[in-house]
Amino acid sequence: MDNRTDPDRVLIFDTTLRDGEQSPGISLNTQEKLEIAQQLARLGVDVIEAGFPITSPGDFEAVQEIARRVHDPGPPVIAALARTHVADIDAAYNAVRDAPRPRIHVFISTSDIHIRHQLQTTREDVKGQARAAVAHAKQYLDDVEFSPMDATRAELEFTAEVCQIAIDEGATTINIPDTVGYTMPHEFEAYLRGLYELVPQLREIVLSVHCHDDLGLAVANSLAGLRAGARQVECAVNGIGERAGNASLEELVMLLHTRQAEIGLHTAANTREIARSSRLVSRLTGYPVQPNKAIVGRNAFAHESGIHQDGVLKERTTYEIMDATTVGLEANSIVLGKHSGRHALQQALSELGFELTGQSLSTAFKRFKDIADKKKHVTAMDLEALVTDELREELAGYQLEWFDVEASSRRPPHATVGVRAPDGEELTGSFTGDGPVDAIFRAINAATGTEVRLREFRVDAVTGGQDALGETSVVLELAGGASGEPVIGAGQGVSTDILEAAGRAYVRALSSAVRHRELGLPAPGDAEREAPVAQPVTAS
Ligand code: KIV
Ligand code: ZN
Repeated sequence: MDNRTDPDRVLIFDTTLRDGEQSPGISLNTQEKLEIAQQLARLGVDVIEAGFPITSPGDFEAVQEIARRVHDPGPPVIAALARTHVADIDAAYNAVRDAPRPRIHVFISTSDIHIRHQLQTTREDVKGQARAAVAHAKQYLDDVEFSPMDATRAELEFTAEVCQIAIDEGATTINIPDTVGYTMPHEFEAYLRGLYELVPQLREIVLSVHCHDDLGLAVANSLAGLRAGARQVECAVNGIGERAGNASLEELVMLLHTRQAEIGLHTAANTREIARSSRLVSRLTGYPVQPNKAIVGRNAFAHESGIHQDGVLKERTTYEIMDATTVGLEANSIVLGKHSGRHALQQALSELGFELTGQSLSTAFKRFKDIADKKKHVTAMDLEALVTDELREELAGYQLEWFDVEASSRRPPHATVGVRAPDGEELTGSFTGDGPVDAIFRAINAATGTEVRLREFRVDAVTGGQDALGETSVVLELAGGASGEPVIGAGQGVSTDILEAAGRAYVRALSSAVRHRELGLPAPGDAEREAPVAQPVTAS
């Protein structure tokens, strides 16, 4: 049941793959985006904004794949973003047209600061562009969303005029973005109530909100939007997105779930898929989740003080307002060991949502056996890490074949590596570095003949315990991008051996940067910044 038949139903519009992917350093390829989209569908989001197809052939392809393949468990709406340009709208339509429920999402700014300085045009022209763009999108699809960008810094009356135009042309959702995270809850609520007064027809369609977190108010502002009457919230897993990010999906869903008696609204999200969605997005984007992050941080359900521990042991609700199993933490009891067979692994992976057969199952089984030899219990989280790691291995251009490191506290460490190039040739390189990880990274540079600057390196443990799998994350800059700027690449690696995990992450980051450089793509996250200034659109 959607919110046309149930007025208390809030639609979850997930923009992890569009606004979220605009975070600096994030660069997801088609396979990774598909993996996230499939998980979002399992999580039960209503709309997946899969990308901004005009920005690159890679983005177009990813949106198209998602539109064609993400149909279960009940097809979510697949949306694609477009400026008011005809070419943007055509690309968006062509990318989503094969989805069972496609949507085009058109935006143009209504604030004077954007109209004057970024668009360098006039209010009259913005009205014309909005009218022509929605009409053009409407020729293709019934489901058209319109966003007046930077609305919260725009004059209410002008935004209302533009929204009325979009509705007149057939927009079925009007989304009000707090693009720069500037508004406050009471102000936003009043703004939206004012909008309803000026545009009564808003009550016949879906009002949506899209809040950024620059002042840490994205979730509070989204809630204010719902109080004013909005019934769609735009959000991202782990709150990723431009600058400080978007409203966090898990916080919004759990807020509506936990305080339902008070708020009186509900979503169709399957809360038990939240933790898994968070881990997948963090792993594939390379963006860690802060330990104290609400709902999905590793301390969100941990109790440190003696008084709290005592209380929780006596009665969980003394210090917990949510049950960890409701968000999918500790929900999975899968534990495999070195005696577990291929079938047990396949079964366990299937429970986690990975359907592996043939060669992929054999490869996963081999990796599982390697890990089970070193680690007594292989848990659901280990398996998830392992399978996502294998997925990346299949996609990487370069592969780390082997490495030798000599490390000592008495002389500088020396590393030699063997790297398989995309054309199959084995390249070797050596380097004496400041530390063993540095020596491996620079030996990889020597083997591949690349000039790279390391931006970030992080090590995390997948689970607790001394024998935990190590998960590493690398962000690097490769010289020689199309615009003369370096190209950014991000990669992750998983292994019981931290040095191996680091080497894997590094070659994957390098492969991603080389791929971007060859395709002449903008650095990840540059899509909107590099988009040409909007020109008046002539209606076709
Ligand atoms: O923040 C914003 O204004 C956006 C729009 C494109 C909806 O992301
Ligand atoms: Zn945004």
